[in-house]
Amino acid sequence: MSSEQVVTSVDIIVSKGDKEGNITYANPIFFKVAGYTQAELMDQPHSKIRHPDMPKVVFEHLWTNLKAGKDVKVFVKNLCKDGGFYWVFAHVRVATNPDGTFRNYVSTRRAMSASAREPIEALYTELKQIEDQEGIEASRTKLNAFLVAQGGSLEQFNEMMTQLQKN
Ligand SMILES: Cc1cc2nc3c(=O)[nH]c(=O)nc-3n(C[C@H](O)[C@H](O)[C@H](O)COP(=O)(O)O)c2cc1C
Repeated sequence: MSSEQVVTSVDIIVSKGDKEGNITYANPIFFKVAGYTQAELMDQPHSKIRHPDMPKVVFEHLWTNLKAGKDVKVFVKNLCKDGGFYWVFAHVRVATNPDGTFRNYVSTRRAMSASAREPIEALYTELKQIEDQEGIEASRTKLNAFLVAQGGSLEQFNEMMTQLQKN
């Protein structure tokens, strides 16, 4: 059954990825909550835990920013091995070596707050539907419209998501 996995308020789920997003490190709870052994996920793409409900436009936003060297704060619904799921609020960063060259990408995830659940689920459901019916361009337009309706813009994405997490 696709049941929800509990992420408690003290849990911090960490993983690191290479340039392609392959998992190079993760902490024990990352494997535990996803229901995989370490061996099953190491060196695998992060998309192995991608949930089919997630809109493409959210990951497009993630990668556009990461490739520009910018952090992203984003809500993600992830898929467990048994078909279950869990929601997190992720902070994905680009780590650099002392000489400034790329080191890895690091994601630290916490439980999504109860108040963010309804608006984000509603937004993602709509984005996914729009993508399936009209394509990603229309989905981008919808995401922008959502941010503007909330009094912000795509440039303020991280701040707006942080606000939703806090409300
Ligand atoms: C450090 C890091 C952590 C990531 N964590 C997740 C994650 O928890 N869940 C997820 O679906 N994608 C995550 N991604 C994004 C995936 O690499 C991928 O873009 C996404 O799953 C969508 O899959 P697709 O690009 O094959 O469509 C992460 C990427 C990086 C660099």
